[in-house]
Amino acid sequence: VHRLYSSAGCRLYNSAVRPDLSERIRARVVTSSPSLTAANHYYLEGGKLLRPAIVLQLAQALHPAGPLSAHNHLAEIVEMIHAASLLHDDVVDDAELRRGKATANVKFGSKSAVLSGDYLLAQASVALAELGDLRVIILLATVIKDLVEGEMLQMKATVEEKLSIEVYLRKSYLKTASLIAKSCKAVAILGGHNETVQEACYQFGRHLGLAFQIVDDKLDYTSTHTELGKPVGADLRNGIVTAPVLFAMEEFPVIRDYVGRGFSQNNDHEKVIEMVLESNGVARTQELAEDLLSKSMHALSFLPSDVTSQSFNDLISSVTLRTK
Ligand code: FPP
Ligand code: MG
Ligand code: MG
Repeated sequence: VHRLYSSAGCRLYNSAVRPDLSERIRARVVTSSPSLTAANHYYLEGGKLLRPAIVLQLAQALHPAGPLSAHNHLAEIVEMIHAASLLHDDVVDDAELRRGKATANVKFGSKSAVLSGDYLLAQASVALAELGDLRVIILLATVIKDLVEGEMLQMKATVEEKLSIEVYLRKSYLKTASLIAKSCKAVAILGGHNETVQEACYQFGRHLGLAFQIVDDKLDYTSTHTELGKPVGADLRNGIVTAPVLFAMEEFPVIRDYVGRGFSQNNDHEKVIEMVLESNGVARTQELAEDLLSKSMHALSFLPSDVTSQSFNDLISSVTLRTK
């Protein structure tokens, strides 16, 4: 697949991802109902396939002869869980635009979008059971709990929690890094590797996943509507405080008051966005992401350097340099 990252200045060639990956996932979620099948397929196309790419890149590094068939199945499962979470997320967020297109809830209605997310989760569970490894089933089932807990933590956060970098990092782990970390650990388990390697793979995925989410949160302030395929500044407008705001708060303590009153007064959002852009918040957010990425690569230092060099550098720069 040559099209993982084809946005400006950011191209990832990932030889580990087979071109038929999307086709194989689509085939797994064909149902007796054409409307359900259409909804199931909707978020399985046009995505970055970042999670399968990470799984297969790591599998390739651990198994230079090529990923095992279990790894290919895992890559499909991971993308199905991700797509399910997006279907439900867009209903919860009442979102209208994703990847530059109408969201599934707008196109098919919220009820179908919820049911489609349920279907993808169920099919991911079937595929997991077919893999036949109890440890991997437990890991990925735990990810689904983490996703829900992360979403709930974000939705119900108190002002104190919103202002805490620890809570922000915990939420980012639950919402984003858990799926990547636990699927990386599953790669090692399925490959028959020992616990030290399993833990290293987990740490690789955890740091990479956190970095990915943090870059995502930065782009909400620095990118454009066209590039992101969704409105910019959306996090703050939804009352969600992320790394750029938390860092900006150190230079502009008044931001605490805005968060405290839930951005309820006229122009509160615009004022905070201005302060964020005037502060070092964006630069410090990028630094945090880059620090996490170097920790992520450090976790793989047990591998021979020729195995990790080029392919992982591409993966890392696709996270750090991406503009969408
Ligand atoms: C995107 O976040 C959303 C997630 C990473 C997880 C959402 C999880 C749920 C809705 C819980 C249900 C989970 C499953 C597996 C059915 P975002 O809204 O911050 O980002 P966005 O800009 O991509 O919408
Ligand atoms: Mg959302
Ligand atoms: Mg959300």
